[in-house]
Amino acid sequence: MLSRDNHGLLKDLLAMTADTPTPPETTTTVAPFMRVIKTYVLRAGRMGSGQVRAFEQFGPQFLVPYTPERLDAAATFGRAAPLILEIGFGMGDATAKIAQVRPDDNFLCCEVHAPGVGALLKRCGEENIGNIRIVQHDAVEVMDHMLGEQSLDGVHIFFPDPWHKSRHHKRRLIQSPFVNRLAQHIKPGGYLHLATDWEPYAEQMLEVLSAEALLKNTATDASGFAEKPAYRPLTKFENRGIKLGHGVWDLVFTKV
Ligand SMILES: C[S@@+](CC[C@H](N)C(=O)[O-])C[C@H]1O[C@@H](n2cnc3c(N)ncnc32)[C@H](O)[C@@H]1O
Repeated sequence: MLSRDNHGLLKDLLAMTADTPTPPETTTTVAPFMRVIKTYVLRAGRMGSGQVRAFEQFGPQFLVPYTPERLDAAATFGRAAPLILEIGFGMGDATAKIAQVRPDDNFLCCEVHAPGVGALLKRCGEENIGNIRIVQHDAVEVMDHMLGEQSLDGVHIFFPDPWHKSRHHKRRLIQSPFVNRLAQHIKPGGYLHLATDWEPYAEQMLEVLSAEALLKNTATDASGFAEKPAYRPLTKFENRGIKLGHGVWDLVFTKV
């Protein structure tokens, strides 16, 4: 049995780590201590009718179910081609455009937000974008379980949630242990491309990536930040920010 004090501690820990509300007083399980902090919070977003239809109509062609087993990428895409992983595509606007300007690459795209998955499915189906497959699941688990070492030619992480408040920084995706694991999944010569519009997070990204021995910065600018590669389109949101004088920082590192 937990003492009253320990029970209070358990409640605090649960509140810090769980996405779900703190369980009732009677909970004594130790399992929550093992929970991993997630980089997202699932919100009940409403799906439009077009997005719902897209799941039915185009899901079978473009959705890849999450399984804790190694993915056969060539079989999944119906062809062998360089494999790019995208983490957190949001509504998938940049994803669709990039896949269209790079028809020779396969894009495995992860997102947990169902309306975003519906929106990208709709575009893939309507615009016949055959080089995208979508996994509606936590990309960290997809990477750990579905992807082998040195299986990726590139990784895109555009505008990951900045988690502004310092008590939420632990939820940020770009942290050393994750970046080290991610780098192991990239082939030598492959790349990791990040972008953010939140300067303190840009600085954290630069610090974490620069400290990773498996990665090398491609930037020629003394700042360490890269020029925006031509394949990454400016999003509407980004355009608006630039007009308001806000910055955007791209980082492109290669695997040594
Ligand atoms: C701020 S949005 C940016 C979306 C998009 N990349 C863009 O540039 O507009 C970050 C997205 O990452 C997704 N996300 C965060 N952590 C994730 C994870 N571990 N696996 C998959 N998606 C994740 C969130 O659901 C959210 O849609």
